[in-house]
Amino acid sequence: MKAEILAMLRESDGYVSGQELCNKFGVSRTAIWKAINQLKEMGYKFEAVSNKGYHLVSAPDVMNEAEIKSLLHTEWAGQELFCFDEIDSTNTKAKELAEQGYPSGTLVVADRQIAGRGRRGRSWDSPAGIGIFMTLMLKPDINPNNASMLTLVTALATAQAISDVTGADARIKWPNDIVINGKKVCGILTEMSAQFDYINHIVIGIGINVHNESFPEEIRETASSLFLESGRHIHRADLIVRFLERFEANYAIFLQTEDLEGLMRDYNALLVNIQKQVRILDPKEPFEGKAIGITKRGELIVDTWESRKLVSSGEVSVRGIYGYV
Ligand code: BTN
Repeated sequence: MKAEILAMLRESDGYVSGQELCNKFGVSRTAIWKAINQLKEMGYKFEAVSNKGYHLVSAPDVMNEAEIKSLLHTEWAGQELFCFDEIDSTNTKAKELAEQGYPSGTLVVADRQIAGRGRRGRSWDSPAGIGIFMTLMLKPDINPNNASMLTLVTALATAQAISDVTGADARIKWPNDIVINGKKVCGILTEMSAQFDYINHIVIGIGINVHNESFPEEIRETASSLFLESGRHIHRADLIVRFLERFEANYAIFLQTEDLEGLMRDYNALLVNIQKQVRILDPKEPFEGKAIGITKRGELIVDTWESRKLVSSGEVSVRGIYGYV
């Protein structure tokens, strides 16, 4: 009921009376009063005026079910929601939930991870209160060969959502890092369980540096946070919800053709590497060239002196010749 009370107060521009809340939920005044008090303990601030009712003054920067659900208007993404103060890794939890039969679109969110995982076997620093650590689980009825493109669909939705909420110019470092002013603010780790022609589930883990005010020396040149780059402390639940809305829209476009044909233009418009010299760290044969954009299969098009090459994600890592991007 807490999520519904918050949603009702958010949707009204003025006050909602205790009676309206009682009628809506079919409970007593005492039950409403108790729920409001619990919300106060969680950090919500209300104005209560006799004969008028309750008005939501401010919400704390929390990522719990009541807060996210009260803001969420998606059809399916995040409708099944699990929120934790602390967890090992949201990707690991999302896999477990997939195996237990939870539906596609289930979202796992944590305030802190004690075993957060990054790509290439690295760990992902996930301290409490300053980041977003979340995993979207999908059970798509698509060819497993097309699944890696979902990471690019996610990168696009994340960059769009970050720009929407912070006003900053968030861009994509191919295939799926999000950067602002050339520094990484978000990483994405996609993991899949599949038979040769059938996907059991995919978990897409997203880690966003939100409120960090500094970074260790070793990564200060390449890593940053939304606060450091936009000067704003955003409300994390707003960003989660915006991401889910953007993802749902992009995913519908992806499913029409099972490739990025309908999203390429938006993706390329946000691609930070575009028209830049890049070094492709292919373990077999590293090379340099100019990045031109992505194909509808999500490969990076790179023009070298001799030829045009298509680079698949997964195999390689990309570096800007002049700095990180
Ligand atoms: C990267 O190395 O750039 C990817 C980092 C992905 C981190 C996120 S945080 C939420 C989810 N759970 C994890 O254990 N990892 C991902």
